[in-house]
Amino acid sequence: MELRHLRYFVAVVEERNITRAALRLHMAQPPLSRQIRQLEDLLGAQLFVRNSRLLELTDTGRFFYSHALQVLAQADQLESMTRRVSKVERGLSVGFVGSTLYGLLPKVIRRFRNEYSDVVLTLHELSTMDQIKALSDGTIDVGFGRIRYEDPKVRRIVLRDERMIVALPAGHALSESRQALSIRDLINDTLIIFPKAPRPSFADQVLAGFRDRGLQPKSIYETREVQIALGLVAAGEGISIVPGSIYGLKRDDVSYKELDGEDLTSPIIMSFRASDESEELSRMLDLIYRLYEEENIDHF
Ligand code: BEZ
Repeated sequence: MELRHLRYFVAVVEERNITRAALRLHMAQPPLSRQIRQLEDLLGAQLFVRNSRLLELTDTGRFFYSHALQVLAQADQLESMTRRVSKVERGLSVGFVGSTLYGLLPKVIRRFRNEYSDVVLTLHELSTMDQIKALSDGTIDVGFGRIRYEDPKVRRIVLRDERMIVALPAGHALSESRQALSIRDLINDTLIIFPKAPRPSFADQVLAGFRDRGLQPKSIYETREVQIALGLVAAGEGISIVPGSIYGLKRDDVSYKELDGEDLTSPIIMSFRASDESEELSRMLDLIYRLYEEENIDHF
């Protein structure tokens, strides 16, 4: 069976009429009918109800149709991914973890689109682990994540270490403190961490801050993402440790305090295929470093 058999079959099903399907496929009706019969012979199964005026599918035909659609979609995806990997098409597909959206990512994307309008930029929200897989199968070309992951086929550049801060419900006793807080100050509250899956994640970097000091929070509440964590903090359910860039998300019912401890940081890591020497990638890296200079952000 060839892919063309699937395309012909899908066209006939969707048009429910062999003449219209032949028109859509830019071919004559007799060869199309022959191809459909040949497909049924190959499968040893009847796909259409023969005595119906409209072309109707048999049960087998319906099964075959849903799977044929999947195979054709995969074939199209393979074609576009391969084109991207080989750079026939000028494009850059970017994977990112949600929390980078509160940092410089929106500026990076806007600036890249302005400066390189000939490059088609696409965005995919993906965990760091999913980014590694997506890099190897060509779904993305570059990933921005927070977890250091070893893979010989993937190159990693730590762009900067972002300081963690603590989010407290407005009016919390600790929000009056003049000094930066320490992890020890936080052990009497419920700690709200995110994302709860997939792991490891930013949540584990926060927990390591306690573990490395031999401390443990009173209790832990795991949630999906930072916005939910902040909502729960606002509701007085606990406190949360968040990347420093979240500070920009000011809300009246949450106050932020700095944390004392050199190690209380989370890296922003750019990953890409080790074999990728494309111009688009070096443009992206160059643009990020220019932005860091402009914004006076400490970076490596
Ligand atoms: C940043 O916040 O530093 C950043 C985030 C995503 C891409 C590049 C930089």
